[in-house]
Amino acid sequence: MKLRYFSHSSFQITTNNGKVILIDPFLDNNPTSPVKSKDVKADYIILTHAHGDHLGDSFKIADKENTLIIAVNELADYFLGKGYKAHNMHIGGSYNFEFGNVKFTIAHHGSKTPDGEYGGEPAGVIITIDGKTIYHTGDTGLFYDMKLIGEMNKIDWMLLPIGDNFTMGITDAVKAVELTNPGTAVPMHYNTFPVINVDPFEFKNKVESINKKCKVMEFGEEIEI
Ligand code: NI
Ligand code: MN
Repeated sequence: MKLRYFSHSSFQITTNNGKVILIDPFLDNNPTSPVKSKDVKADYIILTHAHGDHLGDSFKIADKENTLIIAVNELADYFLGKGYKAHNMHIGGSYNFEFGNVKFTIAHHGSKTPDGEYGGEPAGVIITIDGKTIYHTGDTGLFYDMKLIGEMNKIDWMLLPIGDNFTMGITDAVKAVELTNPGTAVPMHYNTFPVINVDPFEFKNKVESINKKCKVMEFGEEIEI
């Protein structure tokens, strides 16, 4: 399986049998993404919440016939109402898709679509594919239930925000890694805009100081996981 980081909270997973899953595809208005919506296609789009920097280019990228949007009920309904294919889920629920399992978790944040519709509760997502488990926390503050998430799931890759202001900053994100105990932590949601400028290598150093692994992915980088 391959994991590509576009920047901000946008990732692409390519499964061993070639299915493409995008998470929070915010590309065209994202000044740090080297990839734009015209460059990508998706079999599935998983959304953590409805904010413009997460819903992003979903409507441009999604094919009404061939792309399935996976989101919490209210946000999935928003896509269904516009003629797109969606699978409605909610926090605490998991489902086995053709590519693997998706489970939604809590996240402490907000959720409103760019045109002002209520987007349901914001979420994190635990994705298990090809024997590996990825936890994308979405936008969130630190919460102690991350410890429970880590106890009940062997998280191989934890993708978590470090940019502060809207989400956890570095100190809280290091605590989140300690609580969740993932194989490797990957920082996200930083340096997209001046208000969330932080040094990801400060995060990496602090994660390593508690004997955990951290991978700072370059914007556009793809790794085999
Ligand atoms: Ni947000
Ligand atoms: Mn955000």
